[in-house]
Amino acid sequence: MAFAGFERGPYPQTRMRRMRLHPWLRSLVAETDLSATDLIWPLFIIEGTDATESVPSMPGVQRMTIDRIVKAAELAAQLGIPAIALFPVTPADKKTADGKEALNRDNLICRAIRSVRDKLGNSIGIVTDVALDPYTTHGHDGLLIDGYVVNDPTVEVLCQQSIVQAEAGADVIAPSDMMDGRIGRIRTALDQSGFSNVAILSYAAKYASAFYGPFRDAVGSSSSLGKGDKGTYQMSPSNLREALHEVALDLQEGADMVMVKPGMPYLDVVHAVRETFQVPVAVYQVSGEYAMLKAAAERGWLDERKVVLESLLAFKRAGASAILTYFAPDAATWLQQDR
Ligand code: PBG
Repeated sequence: MAFAGFERGPYPQTRMRRMRLHPWLRSLVAETDLSATDLIWPLFIIEGTDATESVPSMPGVQRMTIDRIVKAAELAAQLGIPAIALFPVTPADKKTADGKEALNRDNLICRAIRSVRDKLGNSIGIVTDVALDPYTTHGHDGLLIDGYVVNDPTVEVLCQQSIVQAEAGADVIAPSDMMDGRIGRIRTALDQSGFSNVAILSYAAKYASAFYGPFRDAVGSSSSLGKGDKGTYQMSPSNLREALHEVALDLQEGADMVMVKPGMPYLDVVHAVRETFQVPVAVYQVSGEYAMLKAAAERGWLDERKVVLESLLAFKRAGASAILTYFAPDAATWLQQDR
């Protein structure tokens, strides 16, 4: 491979360190930059008023009642964070095998969407998760028959769930379930219900990852899932070409943006998707990644601010346009201070 500039000869004609001499010079030649406008803040919603609950495996993350979610959304807007992503913690007595609470127009997530919309108008984007795991007693993302998550009947329910969320005011529907064919069916369902401007952010390359553990604690699905795993629908961590196949299909079916998840262990996937397709790519710095950084920082083993900003910058370098991260408000605050 011929490098531009190499023709002038190596050292001593070329000194790479010359362009690293001053901070202003380093910022002038920076190939990648990170801004609050790249971030999406995932939030966990609980029933009640004026209350928060901490999540032991995600220090610093709070589950919030709807009024607190509205305040968090206001903070996000103030910090220049373009969007929040909402995840409900469904009370145990509302969970069923078929997860039908997902279709209740007055469920937790729908009420949260309406409250944020009422207070903030269009000054913040609302991304909502489409999958059944917060609502099912077994903790799977779809309908379970004889221990198997059945695809096509699940897709029918996901279409209805998408419409319910769009009716409540969601801007972006984000199916995280990994059922086959759901993007096309959801697109059609939304269009037929008058929601042709509601976008779809597909969790297209979502791996069956152990890094989701703390999230499942946060939404209360880990005890439901027990020893079960999601390997029959989420992707094997060994596969990259399959991720491109998944993305191609979701784009064909009408996804507006695609997501790679988890983030840091899958930067090669982010990069490959960026290089192969001309669409915005989102990446999810998942709960386990958050927990690792946070735990090391709490012990004084890592400098939290530096490692968080470095990890987020790495997502940008790999090709991500948007980053879902629990560090969003802290990162946005630090970026403001760095100016
Ligand atoms: C559920 C869903 C999961 C996450 C987002 N949506 C968990 C899972 O698939 O089990 C994980 C997010 C995180 O770990 O931060 N469909």
